[in-house]
Amino acid sequence: MLDQEVFKTVLGRWASGVTIVTSRAEGKIHGMTVSAFSSVSLEPPLVLVCADKSSITNELIEKSGIYAVHILSKEQQDLSNKFASKKDEHRRFEGINCSTMVTGAPVLPDCLAVLDCTVVAAHDAGDHIVYVGRVEDATNLDVTPLLYYQGAYRDFSSEE
Ligand SMILES: Cc1cc2nc3c(=O)[nH]c(=O)nc-3n(C[C@H](O)[C@H](O)[C@H](O)COP(=O)(O)O)c2cc1C
Repeated sequence: MLDQEVFKTVLGRWASGVTIVTSRAEGKIHGMTVSAFSSVSLEPPLVLVCADKSSITNELIEKSGIYAVHILSKEQQDLSNKFASKKDEHRRFEGINCSTMVTGAPVLPDCLAVLDCTVVAAHDAGDHIVYVGRVEDATNLDVTPLLYYQGAYRDFSSEE
């Protein structure tokens, strides 16, 4: 049986970007920080995100079948922390001027990239749900990504 601490340490060796996944259902908007994001297919254009079953965001995606993935820039570390913290989780969007693209999921400004998605498959996977989404629309900016490695935000630009 794999030790859970070893498992977490090993997973921490995967360097990733950081995203915020948002959704809208029954008049409510919500979103959370997510690193479990991947491209899946070019034709049709598919991506996936993994959402903890106990998260509020999961509840909204389950109800509405829509989500928007925001790939964060280096300047958005505070936003990442805000959307990961359980403190004031219902005030995450306060002071943010959101827009929408195709699905109606809230779109945060100034992100490195945004993928607006409709859920085409939801797979039960342990304590998470894997949501495969068809990308209805996408945008990007020419800015530097926020990176995450071994439980911390990183800047590898000065390293060999
Ligand atoms: C860097 C980072 C990556 C995260 N990745 C995920 C993830 O892939 N899936 C997930 O469900 N939660 C992930 N989380 C945790 C959620 O952001 C956190 O539990 C959040 O408070 C859930 O919000 P909600 O319950 O209000 O929707 C991550 C947190 C951080 C800081």
